[in-house]
Amino acid sequence: MANDDDTTSMISLGESKGSVCGIPLRYLTRHGIIAGSTGTGKSRAMQVLAEQLAASGVHVFVSDVKGDASGFCQRAFTSGKPDDAPSETETKWKARNSLAPFEPQAFGTNYWSASDRFIPFRFSVASVGSVLFSRLLSLNPTQESHLAIAFSYAKKNSIPLDTPEQLLDVLDQLVSTNQRGISPSSISVIQRKIIALQESGLERMFGKPAVRLEDLGGLNVLNLSDARSDMAVTMAPAFLLQKLFANMPEVGDSDKPQFAIFFDEAHYLFKDANKSLKDLMVTMLKQIRSKGVSVFFVTQDVTDIPDEILGQLSTKVIFSQKTMTEKGNARLRALAKSFPKSDFDVMEALKSLPPGTALLSTLDDTGNQTSPVKVKVFAPATTMSVVPDDALRKACDAALLKKYAKKEAAPKAKPKAAASPKPETRERPAPPVFKPAPSPKVQPVRVKEVVKEVVIEKKVVKKTGPGILDALLGGLLKLLQFLLKAAGMVITALIIKPLKSLCKYLTKKPIRIVYFLLLLLLIYALSVNWAIIASALERLKF
Ligand SMILES: Nc1ncnc2c1ncn2[C@@H]1O[C@H](COP(=O)(O)OP(=O)(O)OP(=O)(O)O)[C@@H](O)[C@H]1O
Ligand SMILES: [Mg+2]
Repeated sequence: MANDDDTTSMISLGESKGSVCGIPLRYLTRHGIIAGSTGTGKSRAMQVLAEQLAASGVHVFVSDVKGDASGFCQRAFTSGKPDDAPSETETKWKARNSLAPFEPQAFGTNYWSASDRFIPFRFSVASVGSVLFSRLLSLNPTQESHLAIAFSYAKKNSIPLDTPEQLLDVLDQLVSTNQRGISPSSISVIQRKIIALQESGLERMFGKPAVRLEDLGGLNVLNLSDARSDMAVTMAPAFLLQKLFANMPEVGDSDKPQFAIFFDEAHYLFKDANKSLKDLMVTMLKQIRSKGVSVFFVTQDVTDIPDEILGQLSTKVIFSQKTMTEKGNARLRALAKSFPKSDFDVMEALKSLPPGTALLSTLDDTGNQTSPVKVKVFAPATTMSVVPDDALRKACDAALLKKYAKKEAAPKAKPKAAASPKPETRERPAPPVFKPAPSPKVQPVRVKEVVKEVVIEKKVVKKTGPGILDALLGGLLKLLQFLLKAAGMVITALIIKPLKSLCKYLTKKPIRIVYFLLLLLLIYALSVNWAIIASALERLKF
């Protein structure tokens, strides 16, 4: 941060003590924060930074939750336009920007939306990846591993994975083709969660054509004002981070960021995120810096940002903080203490800065936080007013509007080399329907014949019914059965049961088996040599 004459390598934020106060571009390669109570000037400071970064050749992406950062496509105080803000007059602008190294100007801007209001901002399920998707669905580790298998199965079998519907199909295929290690119950839990996700408003963000990074060059604004109540507010920026994270090459230290992202109303980013999703975002944010991506969080409350991220921030633009509670005061004291010593009372300044004036501090080349400076932020070169939708659509690149306008119908997820003999559709196997057997075409003549046959059969049975011989044979058979049963019982009682108990007794202690074998051997020896033993005994007697 410096009062620097070399404005080409610097972003001029505003005026401080009669000179331009700027941030060297190389300091902006690390993440930053713009914080302050409502109406203090955060979005305007964001506008000033975004404009100048874009003018310096950095690709800029603004996530605009409220829709009030739409002015990039129109120059400031476009006179005669009814949409100009009352405060935005030429005289005021010129007075505020007497030192500004820029003139009012419009920027070529593309406006995106989670809906089809502007250029639809879509992602393929495959590009979101199984890890982010698992976190989004709050899956447990077992379910997460199942989802990872589904993603790799789809890849291996060249199955398109653009929409959640196709993911459901793939999960079905895992079950129907009995893939190794797959538990159908885990699959159904994942499927239930995907169906819930489809109903949460995120469904529209998936599909083809998915946004391509090369179409995000220059200045882009994602207008989420019509998606504030759904998960798109959290997930659209998370998907973008993931895409950049997966596709941008490592650049190491550079003299300016390649890509700057501004998350206005940044608390939305973490608002609906579960713990594991938050952790993943923190990891991505930590690592994405080395890919030349710097992120600016714009928020009312610094504590909306996870501590691990706060610790990584370099540039801090802090507007006044209104605090009513003791807790709020404590937070403000902590914030004031995070700045190095200054020639003014930081805590007092944080409470009393007028709107449009902020404390600016950043990390210098040695990695130390610079002393805060009071900066009267310039008015942006573009309008501060909300630009109507039709003007925003007109500002967009017509080719991009056309390219992304129509969502392609997603085909059923079938392997390209259709190999599976099993059903591949998501429809659960229909419960067996018991159709009545087709009734024979009963012709009167035939019925008569059938009846005749039955009657004949009955007659035969009557003729050959059981006689005395049959009764004798039957009695004999029953007796035989009884004798066999009795013999079986005797054998069981006299041989099998004792043998079983003997086995049980012997196997309890292995040594008993040895004794038993010795006993058998002795008996055998005695029986074989009984004649000799008997004669010996005879001789002993006489
Ligand atoms: N740098 C500036 N130059 C000119 N006017 C400014 C500047 N900063 C703030 N203002 C005035 O203050 C108003 C509120 O500013 P801004 O919209 O940036 O506030 P905010 O902090 O983003 O508020 P919120 O939290 O409600 O979004 C602007 O409409 C403008 O009139
Ligand atoms: Mg704002």
